[in-house]
Amino acid sequence: MALYMARSRSIYACSECGSQHPQWLGRCPACESWNSLVEEPGAVDGPGKEDTARDLLDSAPASAGEKARRLTEIEASAQARLASGITELDRVLGGGLPPGSVALLGGEPGVGKSTLALQLAARFAEGGLYVTGEESLEQIRLRAERLGAGALPLHVLAETQLEALADPWRELQPRLMVIDSIQTLHTDRVESAPGSVAQVRECAARLASTARLHGTALVLVGHVTKDGALAGPRVLEHLVDVVLSFDGERHHALRLLRALKNRFGSTQEVGVFQMAESGLREVDNPSELFLAERIREAPGSCIVPLLEGSRPMLVEVQSLVAAAPYGTPRRSCLGIEDARLALLLAVLDRRSDVDLLSRDVYANAAGGVRVTEPAADLGLALAIASSRLDRPVPPDVVACGEIGLGGEIRRVARIELRAKEAARLGFQRILVPRGAAEDAAGAALEVVPISDVAEAVAWLRA
Ligand code: TYD
Ligand code: MG
Repeated sequence: MALYMARSRSIYACSECGSQHPQWLGRCPACESWNSLVEEPGAVDGPGKEDTARDLLDSAPASAGEKARRLTEIEASAQARLASGITELDRVLGGGLPPGSVALLGGEPGVGKSTLALQLAARFAEGGLYVTGEESLEQIRLRAERLGAGALPLHVLAETQLEALADPWRELQPRLMVIDSIQTLHTDRVESAPGSVAQVRECAARLASTARLHGTALVLVGHVTKDGALAGPRVLEHLVDVVLSFDGERHHALRLLRALKNRFGSTQEVGVFQMAESGLREVDNPSELFLAERIREAPGSCIVPLLEGSRPMLVEVQSLVAAAPYGTPRRSCLGIEDARLALLLAVLDRRSDVDLLSRDVYANAAGGVRVTEPAADLGLALAIASSRLDRPVPPDVVACGEIGLGGEIRRVARIELRAKEAARLGFQRILVPRGAAEDAAGAALEVVPISDVAEAVAWLRA
């Protein structure tokens, strides 16, 4: 039998995708990101290695672990939820967090994660524990006052050492605990720096198993890197039950909360908030918010019924077409993808009689909304044509449909839901793809079927 010296061997983990490699590399072979590999001390090389080839049935001690049970023997009691009372948040969670569950709240710096987390913890008052590794207790106190929660009996703790959380946890037995943020925590068990993949994973894993054992609902706040991934993303995502993403445009008050993963509910729901002077305000009627500042009968604007998850929202898309005095015309977008605008301009130019060559074209989605749905194509094309022709889209109209390269208007999902939202807000006509005219028939508004961009432009001119 060979004698092994137990030797600590480092492995290298990618901070982007979590894959592990035996040596350091400049570029991760798994996800191809540069400079993302970090050293993780740990893995002990030794005789244990041999065991991997052995028969599990032979080597594991008898009577260890649980017996398998028949599915029908298991009682499926509806799990109790800790509803926060913040409707927009509970909606995304599917009713609230079950005790012992772990949620990860991710978002860019400054988007409002700490504010949301503090507002959430405050709802549990005595039963809430808010742990901060980023701010001083005084700052938290000031923020709580700003949020109108300064007088609540919520517990707060400034701590960055994982092991030091044990005492307060034992003592307070919180129903809900927030860790803001998981990247600031560290444990002595792991040698690498706070925020490294190894630290984040180890801390999150130990917090998660403790939360499960003690029935504490745990919310981990996590920063995302500039390309939108949570630091150490994969490793955290499978450790937690719910992954929430909070985002919004820096210069707008609008904030959207989505579930990217949810073991207890759907990932189709979206929560809408507005960042106000006294914290995050719920927006239960986003369409009204987005339409509030609209100038009616102005050329270059069109209302589109979009879907965020399963929630319809009316959004205004705007365009301005101007003469380009010199050189290459400018094309610029806000809240709309450049490639989408380029495509629509090309299609309008070729498939209709709207002349856009050598014109500057600007396109915006109003209110800080990010329009990613192709269903906005028809409305956007109408907004562009409307600006170019200086003819407003009538104020009682919404338009939805995807535009293909041939200029054809294509069907989009759930037209009836969109049409009903438009009807609810007082719109009287909806332009839809000709093939989908029947889908909208259930809503109380006039359906105008459109086959292609040329027909849409002709409708605008009529
Ligand atoms: P914060 O919750 O600290 O963001 P994060 O934890 O995601 O980094 O919120 C940051 C921004 O929100 C900050 O620029 C100030 C603004 N804010 C308000 O507008 N109103 C408020 O009541 C609060 C608490 C913050
Ligand atoms: Mg913060």
